[in-house]
Amino acid sequence: MRIFLVGFMGSGKSSLGRKLAHRLGFSFIDLDKMIEEKEGRSISEIFENKGENSFREIEHECLKQTLLVEDAVISTGGGTPCFFNNMDMINQNGISVYIKFNSGMLASRLSKDKGKRPLLKHSDNKKDFQDHIEKLLSKREKYYLQSQLILDKPKRTNDIIIVISEYLTSINKKIKK
Ligand code: S3P
Repeated sequence: MRIFLVGFMGSGKSSLGRKLAHRLGFSFIDLDKMIEEKEGRSISEIFENKGENSFREIEHECLKQTLLVEDAVISTGGGTPCFFNNMDMINQNGISVYIKFNSGMLASRLSKDKGKRPLLKHSDNKKDFQDHIEKLLSKREKYYLQSQLILDKPKRTNDIIIVISEYLTSINKKIKK
């Protein structure tokens, strides 16, 4: 079984994914890390040197490779579901979980480390930053909303893990404890 965590940048997919994988006894794959390892450079460097289109192609190829791994939790990048047929691939090959926050919450979660994210670093003041997030989220949410499970403004990681585990049980999938 594969569980794909999807959602906007800053929604906590990576740290949640690591904990969820541990809890389920599954492998953990962070798609951004996989891309960085494959390319031998950071996401920011890939955006700078090769451009976003190339990044999206590499991301698509890495996503395909995750389908070869059984029993994995995969934290996707914020843009992953929105390019090519990625969201269909995700839904056909695993269980998708959208970690949903509104744009205001995302802006405050992201304000500290926006420098690390190529798609956010050009918004200088607070208002531009929030507007940018709101616009990007409104373009992307139709993809995120195709997820099979939507967690709206989740709070504690442990509670999220319980909800996901209960969902998996409810759809009669075997999970390793
Ligand atoms: C992106 C999100 C990033 C990373 C890249 C592009 C996006 O991942 O893949 O900077 O398009 O939203 P996180 O969601 O893990 O920050």
